[in-house]
Amino acid sequence: MAEPCPDVLAPVPLGGPLLPAVAVVVPTFNEAPNVAALVTRLEQVLVDRPWEVVFVDDDSPDGTAAVVQALAREKPHVRCLLRLGRRGLSRAVIEGILSTSAPVVAVMDADLQHDESALPRMLALLEAGDADVAVGSRYVAGGGVGEGFDAGREAMSRAATWLAGAVLRVRLADPMSGFFALRRDVFDAAVRRLSGEGYKILLDLLASSPRPPRVAEVPYQFRPRVAGVSKLDSAVAWEFALLLIDKRIGRWVPARFVMYALVGASGVLVHMAVLWLLYRGIRLGFDTAQTAATVTAMTTNYALNNVFTYRDRRHSGLGWLRGLLSFYAVCGLGVVANVGVASAIFDRSQGAWLLAAVAGVFVGTVWNYVASRAVTWRRG
Ligand code: GDD
Ligand code: MN
Repeated sequence: MAEPCPDVLAPVPLGGPLLPAVAVVVPTFNEAPNVAALVTRLEQVLVDRPWEVVFVDDDSPDGTAAVVQALAREKPHVRCLLRLGRRGLSRAVIEGILSTSAPVVAVMDADLQHDESALPRMLALLEAGDADVAVGSRYVAGGGVGEGFDAGREAMSRAATWLAGAVLRVRLADPMSGFFALRRDVFDAAVRRLSGEGYKILLDLLASSPRPPRVAEVPYQFRPRVAGVSKLDSAVAWEFALLLIDKRIGRWVPARFVMYALVGASGVLVHMAVLWLLYRGIRLGFDTAQTAATVTAMTTNYALNNVFTYRDRRHSGLGWLRGLLSFYAVCGLGVVANVGVASAIFDRSQGAWLLAAVAGVFVGTVWNYVASRAVTWRRG
């Protein structure tokens, strides 16, 4: 990984089409007013090498893709990758990088918050072989967030930085940066292990690399957004948690299954509380109390999974009710699987009831997880 990048330094063949030495990948969602300005700025800083910019748009309702395509008809170094029916910053970036064969790739936001004048320094570090990944950093000397962040957002960013260091051992002043450049082989080595969840593509890349890449940070000032709004909302903290779980134990158990199982454990508590209230408290018959407890626990499990486990696909409005009904159906079959497995083991083991019960619960839970993911929260 240490040798400089020969493809970048090689002379460009004269006469033929210019192969881009650098691709800038820009994820967009509702950035129509910003793309032309960004292209102009890139043209000013990337003068001395062939390059291209790939906008990866998730079918923005404001028509960003049409604006990019109009630009691309005039400028061969502008490309548009349109993704239909999908959302997600990390995966957009991953697909943008996969769409180019440039030996060096940079990633930056479309909203002009990232200072493009830091790009040449970042690329120079890679081209000289001084780093495998160059990160535009707000938190090293010379960098900053200026007016770009409010106090709450800055505190969150710092807490996340600390957690990234503690949990993933990624030592970097600004691991949350969405502004970075890397050699393609570094990306290729990590791409199949990427979690792809959420916003933290750089962190994901660093935590997924088989060998820790050499990282250098280049300071820049995070600018305030001029047009449009930030798409980062409360889901970001959740996505970050999912990424941390995934990178630490995702090799053995999927992060979502961990969340699902935690929610399931809370359902057991809900079940017992309701059962106790109805059976011991107001003295309903056991069957009635047990049925009511089961339905209540299924409902709270559904609501919690909808908020936590499948936050990125959550149902609302009428869809919430439809989802609930399908969740009941999935769990109903889960009970059949649970009891089927448990009684089969019970019969064949001369009454090892504890083993039979645990096996039944395990099979039922795995069934519920797999089936509800495929049915209740299937990808749109
Ligand atoms: N294709 C696609 N799909 N692009 C998206 C999506 C999506 O679902 N969501 C956001 N984007 C694009 C935006 O259009 C923008 O170009 C870029 O991704 C960053 O989104 P912003 O909404 O502007 O994020 P931010 O400014 O709040 O956050 C920035 O700073 C964070 C550090 O705190 C980003 O650079 C983050 O990546 C970074 O972690
Ligand atoms: Mn932004």
